[in-house]
Amino acid sequence: MEKEKIIEQIKKLKKEKKAIILAHNYQIGEIQDIADFVGDSLELSKKAAGVSCRIIVFCGVRFMAETAKILSPEKKVLLPKKEAGCPLADMIKAEEARELKQMYPDAEIVAYVNTNAEVKAESDICCTSANAVEVARKIKVEKIIFVPDKNLASYVAKNLPEKRIIPFQGYCYVHDKIKKEDIAKAKENHPDAKVIVHPECRPEVIEIADMVASTGGMIRFAKESPAKKFIIGTEEGIIHRLKKENPEKEFFPIFPLPVCKDMKLTTLEDVYLALKEERYEIEIEESIRKKAKKALDRMLQ
Ligand code: 13P
Ligand code: SF4
Repeated sequence: MEKEKIIEQIKKLKKEKKAIILAHNYQIGEIQDIADFVGDSLELSKKAAGVSCRIIVFCGVRFMAETAKILSPEKKVLLPKKEAGCPLADMIKAEEARELKQMYPDAEIVAYVNTNAEVKAESDICCTSANAVEVARKIKVEKIIFVPDKNLASYVAKNLPEKRIIPFQGYCYVHDKIKKEDIAKAKENHPDAKVIVHPECRPEVIEIADMVASTGGMIRFAKESPAKKFIIGTEEGIIHRLKKENPEKEFFPIFPLPVCKDMKLTTLEDVYLALKEERYEIEIEESIRKKAKKALDRMLQ
């Protein structure tokens, strides 16, 4: 089917089936363009919890669609590409989270939203890259087990010297491979550009940035800043939205280009088939979902 036809069919099916399409900021441009809402993990989970519809088609990766299902069990949540996962989320198993709790019984466990439902269920509270520091600050105890991203854990620790952060040693391969030298090179080419990076980047990369933010925070910063040029230290998909919403400004990616393979799997055809066949439905065992919801609700409060 031609692209225009597919888009027409998606719009028609969406209406017929009372569905909405949520897309993460890293999705390919044409998916972002047909979505009802594009955002970061926190914005998308809030949207999923608050929106009224029968079906949510989640264009992103599995943990994001799972989060939507945990918060809105009465809705049918579809992940158009069932293979779309997050290698960072897969680095920690529920068993390992349980072991950490046994090792540090006086600590609370904070799970980055980039975790599977079983790990969230073992956690006291969730966080996203947009609120990690705030969530950790509000925890009453001094000791915090932070899973699974070691770079985000280090960013939280740096901002909260009064807390003792015990990090799990996971990392996002896309952000962890951005080197200080890659940023320096981009700065050489665009000396008057502001450097914005994601907190999943290495500490030495974060140190030389002008701004550290979630993908949603990056969108806001680019819009509100008087600067005209920006070097973007995160997955390249976000540049589509940055350019679209700020046509008078310039955005430069880092090289080698940071690409999340899983975020790039979903195509327009997959979205069409997801709507048509109501596939691939996210299912979570109820006892796990309830426990995971507690950790998510605590974060949203
Ligand atoms: P955001 O919550 O900042 O959109 O990040 C999600 C993610 O997967 C980063 O790699
Ligand atoms: Fe996971 Fe990294 Fe891809 Fe984000 S960019 S979905 S953390 S692998």
